[in-house]
Amino acid sequence: MLILGLETTCDETSAAVVQDGRDVLSNVVASQIGLHAKFGGVVPEVAARAHLESLNLIVDEALQRAHITRPAHQLAAVAVANCPGLIGCLLVGTAAAKAFAFAWQKPLIAVNHVQAHLYSVVLQDPSTPSFPHFLISSVPFPALGLVISGGHSSLYHVHSFHNLRRIGQTQDDAVGEAFDKVAAILQLGYPGGPLIDQLAKGGGGNPLAIKFPAGHLEKDSLNFSFSGLKTAVLYHVNGKQGRQRDASALTAQQKADVAASFQKTAADMLIEKLRRAAARFPARALLIGGGVSANSAIRAAVTALGAELHLPVFIPPIQFCTDNGAMIAGIAYELLLSGQIADLNLETIATI
Ligand code: KG4
Ligand code: ZN
Repeated sequence: MLILGLETTCDETSAAVVQDGRDVLSNVVASQIGLHAKFGGVVPEVAARAHLESLNLIVDEALQRAHITRPAHQLAAVAVANCPGLIGCLLVGTAAAKAFAFAWQKPLIAVNHVQAHLYSVVLQDPSTPSFPHFLISSVPFPALGLVISGGHSSLYHVHSFHNLRRIGQTQDDAVGEAFDKVAAILQLGYPGGPLIDQLAKGGGGNPLAIKFPAGHLEKDSLNFSFSGLKTAVLYHVNGKQGRQRDASALTAQQKADVAASFQKTAADMLIEKLRRAAARFPARALLIGGGVSANSAIRAAVTALGAELHLPVFIPPIQFCTDNGAMIAGIAYELLLSGQIADLNLETIATI
């Protein structure tokens, strides 16, 4: 069963064709990084306009790469992420998906973008056959799911990929936002997550060089707070009140130490909440997803926690960590099988 999935929630325009919720036949992603870099973050109106300009081309490319010449005959459904995200961006993808579903007379499937991030652990990319091939049925539920991205830091008790309960979330910045801001403080560029990761590793940063505060909140809290950590990095690099100097005063080694120490603190904060959740909720596996799950230190820390708790860990292949259409088409298969079909009145929801 082939499903076309559209992703336009933020700054990636993506379309993908996935077979039976697992095999990714095509996954075309047009990143808008170049458009937003000069602003140091995503500008919603610019993003929505860029989706509008490129979506049809991206869909054509995704169909072509999957060898789909007659979509009305070959596709089983059209899926779209209709929440959460930037409202103008969601509207572009949702309107397009409705048009395709109507024109091809196919079921329309509405997907929650955050839930789809967790589903990406079971996607199979034929171009990376060496990656462990999980079967969808091999993920034991209930599980704990951690979605960490530029827009979300949320913890879920997961009963199935489309039946999950949020048990913790950030009270201020998302963890990806903290990575992006720390990269800006270090004058590394945008988006900052991969640059911090590279500098910490390639620059020989010492994760124990600086002791930044890990804000764990109250003893029982499963929520996150990253603004204190971000401010601590700002004061460390720029001096008191963040205004006395800037990152150009640091040596390359000092910069790498800041990157590695920040990254370790962020990973520790995430692990602490997973550990607390595992003590309170029955769980047979750990799942992570979202752009920040591409981070090497966080992948290693979650893997180590899984070994300590004797729980299998499911981590997405790198190319499915950041926003992509494949995760939308993938989870839509499960929704279609369980009869969760939307109609052409489908609305977009910015926050959930
Ligand atoms: O999932 P995503 O593409 O978009 C949202 O749904 O928000 O996540 C983007 C975020 C950005 O903040 C980016 O800096 C971060 O993921 N990111 C990383 C890494 N790769 C991407 N953060 C840390 N380490 C990485 N290797
Ligand atoms: Zn995302």
